Amino acid sequence: MKKRKRRIKKKPFILIFLIIIACTLVYYYFHTISKPSFKDKLADLGYSSKEVAIILDKIPEDDYQFIKKYNRSLINIINSKNYKEDCFRKYLEYYNKNTDADVNDIITIINSGYDLTKYKASSLLASLVSEKYYINKNVARYLDYSNSEKEVSRIISIVNSNADNDFYTNVKQSNLKDENLVLVNKFYHLPDKYEPNDLVTLTSKYNQGINSKMRKEAAEAFMKMVDGAMLDNIILKNSSAYRSYDYQVNLYDKYVKRDGKEKADIYSARPGYSEHQTGLCADINTINSSFANTKEAKWLAKNAYKYGFILRFPKDKEDVTGYKYEPWHYRYVGIKAAKIIYEENLTLEEYYAYYIDK
Ligand code: DAL
Ligand code: ZN
Repeated sequence: MKKRKRRIKKKPFILIFLIIIACTLVYYYFHTISKPSFKDKLADLGYSSKEVAIILDKIPEDDYQFIKKYNRSLINIINSKNYKEDCFRKYLEYYNKNTDADVNDIITIINSGYDLTKYKASSLLASLVSEKYYINKNVARYLDYSNSEKEVSRIISIVNSNADNDFYTNVKQSNLKDENLVLVNKFYHLPDKYEPNDLVTLTSKYNQGINSKMRKEAAEAFMKMVDGAMLDNIILKNSSAYRSYDYQVNLYDKYVKRDGKEKADIYSARPGYSEHQTGLCADINTINSSFANTKEAKWLAKNAYKYGFILRFPKDKEDVTGYKYEPWHYRYVGIKAAKIIYEENLTLEEYYAYYIDK
């Protein structure tokens, strides 16, 4: 009777012992034996032992199980100068969806930090995200617009300025809270009959036209600019500054009657869409393309930004602004913005999209 009892007690110990042995074996299998199989698989794919060593060194151990589809690009990804270890899974996931894409493009797109994996990987997308003025919310439109324009910086300029839309479509009201930076163009219009409440009249020293008013801060900057130019023997005068909504109605109608709507739209704003209604701009000296070659125009192009003015409709940006080059039309935006716009060769549209609206 005593003997039997002892045998019954031994059984659970044996069972526990066996379980421990089994667990140890499983643990040993996954942590020791399975690792070399990853190594072997890499070797089978043609990686040299040196490459295998690099891969094993660069890929976090947790990712071994994650890598299901090994291929030559693994080493290209790892060896790329822009490789970031913590992005490895993202590279591989994106690569597995875009196996014919260039590995460097994959890396550039992932490194941008934007989630673009629903878009096909391409050198165009990689170039877009590398551009300074890239705005992520516009990416689908950039890709669309690439059917009409090939130069990447141009695609970005046009789309950021909304000019991938037809002019005077999808229009919105300008944000008057932007003050000196208020954007008025073929997509942004002023509230009906808007009139600034701080218009001042320029004296004859600074003015030669009937539209002689400007907003106070802009007028003061304008006078400083005229005085500064005079020191260089350059004579500047306003020829047309603030124009009311009604004035623009008559002006635009006159141009349409003379040249037809299509042509008039290239050089004249429709009522409500003219920057002249903001009281922040001035047409200086001669309102004629011949002005471009004068020493006054050259002085302005070089110095106006120092006083907070920008050339509003530059020569090589017609498709961005929607207007023909106007060497006489200067817009006050304040010194800080004018300096950036001048130095970075932007239009107000491009500046607004990237520095304000983004
Ligand atoms: N000439 C400019 C574009 C205007 O009419 O406001
Ligand atoms: Zn003008």
